[in-house]
Amino acid sequence: MNKKKVICPCYDITKGDIICALEQGACCFKDVKKCTKVGTACGKCKDKAKKFTKKMIDKQLESGDCVFVCPRDEKAAK
Ligand code: FES
Repeated sequence: MNKKKVICPCYDITKGDIICALEQGACCFKDVKKCTKVGTACGKCKDKAKKFTKKMIDKQLESGDCVFVCPRDEKAAK
């Protein structure tokens, strides 16, 4: 995967930026959006960014080696 591939030309957000947001605690597209601003200008990239975010989360869950911990899930577990 090319992490330097730009997903959102408006803010110059790359696939790597989305992965970074997920690694830093974003656990859904809403969080990624808040974190990176992806899709908040013209909105044309929204579907693509959403799909990519979901793909990355699913990939982590499938591998059973999930590094994306949702703060809300953590709270619920306590
Ligand atoms: S391309 Fe992402 S907001 Fe315009």
